Amino acid sequence: MDDDPTAVEHAAQTIRAGGLVAFPTETVYGLGANATDADAVAKIYAAKQRALNDPLIVHCAPPDDDMAGPLNLRELIGNRAPFVLEELARQRIIGALSIAQRLRANALIGSFWPGPLTLVLPRGSRIPLNVTAGLDTVAVRMPAHPVALALIRRSGVPIAAPSANRFGHVSPTVARHVLDDLDGRIDVLLDGGPTPIGVESTVVDLTAYQPVILRPGGLGREDIERVIGKLGTLEQGSGGAGEHGAAQSSPGTLSKHYAPRAELRVASDTPHLLALHAECVARGLRPGLLVMAGQRDACAGLEPQFVLGKDLADAARNLYAGLRALDDDGVDVILVSAVEQAGIGE
Ligand code: TXA
Ligand code: MG
Repeated sequence: MDDDPTAVEHAAQTIRAGGLVAFPTETVYGLGANATDADAVAKIYAAKQRALNDPLIVHCAPPDDDMAGPLNLRELIGNRAPFVLEELARQRIIGALSIAQRLRANALIGSFWPGPLTLVLPRGSRIPLNVTAGLDTVAVRMPAHPVALALIRRSGVPIAAPSANRFGHVSPTVARHVLDDLDGRIDVLLDGGPTPIGVESTVVDLTAYQPVILRPGGLGREDIERVIGKLGTLEQGSGGAGEHGAAQSSPGTLSKHYAPRAELRVASDTPHLLALHAECVARGLRPGLLVMAGQRDACAGLEPQFVLGKDLADAARNLYAGLRALDDDGVDVILVSAVEQAGIGE
């Protein structure tokens, strides 16, 4: 576990010097560079072999060194959200906000930062265009992970970071996954153990006329709607267009993204899962199963299988490790039952 100050200090120096640091967040591991340095940011795209039209998330932290962990930070931020927003503007990470954008951002930051919520807002002048793939909006979030927060504070700059995997692949939830995808392509890897949430942050576009989720993630739609009211719906293929209408799709909404190598098929329930399994075997394919604890008896003896856990939070935490494990096992098809489309299940 690299939460010791010297490892973090070394990583922060690497960021300041324009290098690449992979680090844990509460969602997935990120591949970070100084978000105000276009040359450093270019290295992220090269290392990931990421499409240049796919914008990055800028990670920030409050400067105060004596605010210990993410939990009391959540309390501290509470009604001080206007201060957080003002600081982002003062650092020219975000630009000028409309009144509606400001009210909604304050409410969401006050309720959910630090945490798995990314806000798309007008871009500030210190953020180079290769961070935002040419857009005049920028995605920002404050991660709820002590190592991530310490790294950002010690670096003294906002950190642009996509997930630390090869483009299109499954996101990394342990340090080993980062090495499997990017060994030799990064300068420093901070190992913070398994990431507690296990799926990416929820991305909400506040520059749209009606706010809209561009990518579902760790924070549920219902939680967001409780704070800012009903969200709009994303028309397929128009993700991230914002009110300025720039054609830019959000990869989280592409039909193939976050993908394992094997074909993935989703069953409606356990009997359907068993039927799909039998069908694969009959066709001479080798299926692997992702199962909930409650399905183990019904699926006994069907190998390989990976147990996701007992509830949705477990399933989110273990999903990417399960996809990677079955891929490594060389299965042709991965079979899983659908989960409830609510909260993190979406
Ligand atoms: O949990 C997470 O969000 C992780 C950790 C490392 O923070 N990061 C992550 O980054 O998943 P990435 O690059 O894999 O996904 C960023 C998502 C993409 O779907 C991208 O299109 C969207 O955020 N995004 C970033 N900037 C945007 C913008 N200006 N407008 C619309 N979408 C944007
Ligand atoms: Mg990603």
